[in-house]
Formats: sequence, structure tokens, C-alpha cells
Amino acid sequence: MPIRTDSTEKQIWLTLWKQLGEAITDSHHPFRFLVLGSSNGDLINQRYVVLRDMDDDLNLYVFSDNRTQKVNDLIKNSNCSALFYHQEERVQVRMNGKAEFLNSVDKEPYWNIIHGEAIKAYSSVKSPGTSIQDWGDAYEWDESIGFENFSVIRIIPQEIEMLQLNKLEHLRIRFSRSEDWKGQKLVP
Ligand SMILES: Cc1cc2nc3c(=O)[nH]c(=O)nc-3n(C[C@H](O)[C@H](O)[C@H](O)COP(=O)(O)O)c2cc1C
Repeated sequence: MPIRTDSTEKQIWLTLWKQLGEAITDSHHPFRFLVLGSSNGDLINQRYVVLRDMDDDLNLYVFSDNRTQKVNDLIKNSNCSALFYHQEERVQVRMNGKAEFLNSVDKEPYWNIIHGEAIKAYSSVKSPGTSIQDWGDAYEWDESIGFENFSVIRIIPQEIEMLQLNKLEHLRIRFSRSEDWKGQKLVP
């Protein structure tokens, strides 16, 4: 259990970022996938995505096809959420933040590590979400256009909340960028 009543806020914070860092290289890590939330007017849209990278400013990076709903949503409204759950340790991590998109120069190093069949994720001839008659209608790719469709989303967390499930004595803590990430204990 990573959060205990005798854990310091600093220890909790460092454990979180250590685990997120591990998820970037370990495809079996529970934090490898997150639920990314965006909004489209009054509608909330959520979907799983892969955590691809993070940086020293505590931003997270996710790849997508820039023709998807999530990209459209986040261009119009950069508010987003990220949700993780570590089943073994029974820890939920919830983030609220802003999304932005890397420009061509900054996204190129990420593109360069995508090889082979993985390029197809960004090079379907028909845009993601297009209605089709038969399943096979989706499987046509033009790999020469992959980079144009490739987008790297930077998630800039503003608030991060962790909930440690612990029988009847759950532990909840909030870290805010505006408070220099100082931890605040909360009633669960
Ligand atoms: C485990 C899992 C991981 C996924 N990873 C990604 C990802 O990293 N990027 C992405 O664009 N879609 C990913 N998807 C697909 C999305 O969940 C979603 O179905 C797709 O991107 C279209 O979403 P949208 O129309 O809301 O943009 C993943 C789906 C699953 C189930």
C-alpha cells in the first residue's frame, strides 16, 4: 500500500511520479493506461489511452490520430481529466488539467520511435469514427500520410488527487500546482 497514515506528503508524491515513470517503459504497469476525459459542449467524452511519456514539469504525453473526437474536443476546450487505477495497490489517481498539442518539430522525435505496423494507427484512409458498411472498409492505409495525422497531446495537470482504498479508513490527498504541489489531506 503506497499511502499509509505515516507516509509523508513528499513520500506519497514521489511514489506517484516514480510509478508513472515506470508505466512509460513497462507495458504491464497498471498506470500504463489512463482514462482521458474531454468535453464537447455539454457532453463528456472518455476513452482509454496509453501513457507515452512525462517530463520534469510533471506533464504527461499521449499519442493520437488528430482526426479523432478527443483531438477535436481538446482543440475547442483544453480542459481535460486523466484517471488511473492501480488494482493491486488499490489506489485511484485523478487529474484535472489542460491539454495542448506538440508542434511538428516537437512531435517528430516521438514519431521517429514509431515503427512498422504501429504507423497504421495514424494512417487509415478513412478518418476514425467514419461510418462504414463492412468492417473491411476500415482497413485501408496510406502510410505516407501518417505524420500529418499523428498528434502528441501534452496533459498539463493542475490538480492531482489520490485515493488509497483501505477498508473503512480510506486516505485521500490533493496536490495542486497553484500550491506548488503541496499535499492537502481530505476526507475521503
Ligand atoms: C487499452 C486501450 C488503449 C488505447 N490507447 C489509445 C491511445 O493511446 N491513443 C488513442 O488515440 N486511442 C487509444 N485507444 C482507443 C481510444 O480509447 C478510442 O477508442 C479512440 O481513440 C477514439 O476515441 P475518440 O473518438 O474519443 O477520440 C485505446 C483504447 C484502449 C482500449
